[in-house]
Amino acid sequence: MTQTEDGNDTVTLIDNKTGKQVTMPVLHGSVGPSVIDIRKLYAATGYFTYDPGFTSTGSCESAITYIDGDEGVLLHRGYAIDELAKNSTFPEVCFLLLNGHLPTAAESTEFDVILRRHSMVHEQLTKFYSGFRRDAHPMAIMCGVVGALSAFYHDSTDIEDPVERKIAAHRLIAKMPTIAAMAYKYSVGQPFMYPRNDLTYAENFLYMTFGTPCEPYKVNPILSKAMDKIFILHADHEQNASTSTVRLAGSSGANPFACIAAGIASLWGPAHGGANEAVLKMLEEIGSVDRIPEIVRRAKDKNDNFRLMGFGHRVYKNYDPRAQVMRETCHEVLAELGIKNEPLLDIAMELEKIALSDPYFVEKKLYPNVDFYSGIILKAMGFPTSMFTVLFALARTVGWISQWKEMIEDPVQKIGRPRQLFTGENKRPFVPLNERG
Ligand code: SDX
Repeated sequence: MTQTEDGNDTVTLIDNKTGKQVTMPVLHGSVGPSVIDIRKLYAATGYFTYDPGFTSTGSCESAITYIDGDEGVLLHRGYAIDELAKNSTFPEVCFLLLNGHLPTAAESTEFDVILRRHSMVHEQLTKFYSGFRRDAHPMAIMCGVVGALSAFYHDSTDIEDPVERKIAAHRLIAKMPTIAAMAYKYSVGQPFMYPRNDLTYAENFLYMTFGTPCEPYKVNPILSKAMDKIFILHADHEQNASTSTVRLAGSSGANPFACIAAGIASLWGPAHGGANEAVLKMLEEIGSVDRIPEIVRRAKDKNDNFRLMGFGHRVYKNYDPRAQVMRETCHEVLAELGIKNEPLLDIAMELEKIALSDPYFVEKKLYPNVDFYSGIILKAMGFPTSMFTVLFALARTVGWISQWKEMIEDPVQKIGRPRQLFTGENKRPFVPLNERG
């Protein structure tokens, strides 16, 4: 790396074939890796860069979430995830992600009222559910219903208007618990429950999910605290696949509701947010502790595409700090529910112990991630496995919409349009049907 006269750092690329050189600026952030600004590379050299899966590519500048994968650090606007999980509430973290600072008491009260007052959905939206089969996967329902929100809230789809952007963000954060609870109610054939403005965000979600019109439903404070903490742990996570999907969709000017629906679709994959559902299925398939060596062998077998769900991460090459908090919460919830010997937890603890000592996992730095323990807690709380990723989407909506807002307000943002390394057929003449072999 060298410096220009004005003291800015640069790197120079030399084409060994032509001897041509191109010097590019190095940009430094407040913390974490610096970046090589390659925006002029193609014009200067005729080369694209090539980075499938974006393992070495920074897609944007952001001030929302910082991850140090080697140290297992996760900061939201500078605050460590374990401190937020211990001392904050999910609405407070939503305010932090959206606005960049922790709310004052007055701001917190005002924001709380906004979320409570926006939690109801348009009555017509309930009609969308009846178009689905009762056994439709709730994530399919979430993709459809959230995408449909743009048909109901035209007055907050002008992305150039900061007021409309703010209203859309509040509506999405406030309505996701209602929409998610309705997806669950629809799947079990129970009536939808309207939100209650006298309940907290997490209490309301548990009430709308597990309450019925037939009798009063008292939310267990330990469970609502655990739910709130689980929401905090899933709130945002830098430029992951679903957040990058939201940013790319938003870069074309698509409305925020459509962008969040795109994020939900991306999160659904088992390599991403769908992993919590896949972890539970894997633990159930393992069935007993003595089958773990076979499972670990399969996970290590290059010829077997089986992967240990809930393990590994593109960024974390250390323990996912969220998994640590999730593990503690898991024990708290099981204790509160009086679940003494949960076989799935025994299998998970033994699997974690074996995997963390196995050279394959140690060398590849594969540690438990946020999805490893969440499924056990959610199952203990009464959620069906099919709802696990829905809860992830519910919580991640604030991260998606905060990153979307940051992108829209970024003066250098433009439509995302990557290029490619083309390896297909070059130009060739058309062959009429009667001359084809
Ligand atoms: C989330 O990006 C985010 O921030 C996501 C997330 C968020 O909050 O948004 O943190 C949420 O998605 C967490 C991850 C949940 N997914 C899973 O638990 C599914 C199981 N994990 C793997 O599919 C995998 O670890 C990924 C997808 C998470 C990461 O894959 P990478 O970064 O592309 O790594 P890789 O596939 O290149 O793996 C590196 C090596 C490979 O071996 P080699 O080819 O080098 O020999 O590690 C192996 C992989 O085969 N490997 C695993 C493994 N994960 C990676 N081997 C067995 N079991 C695994 N789970």
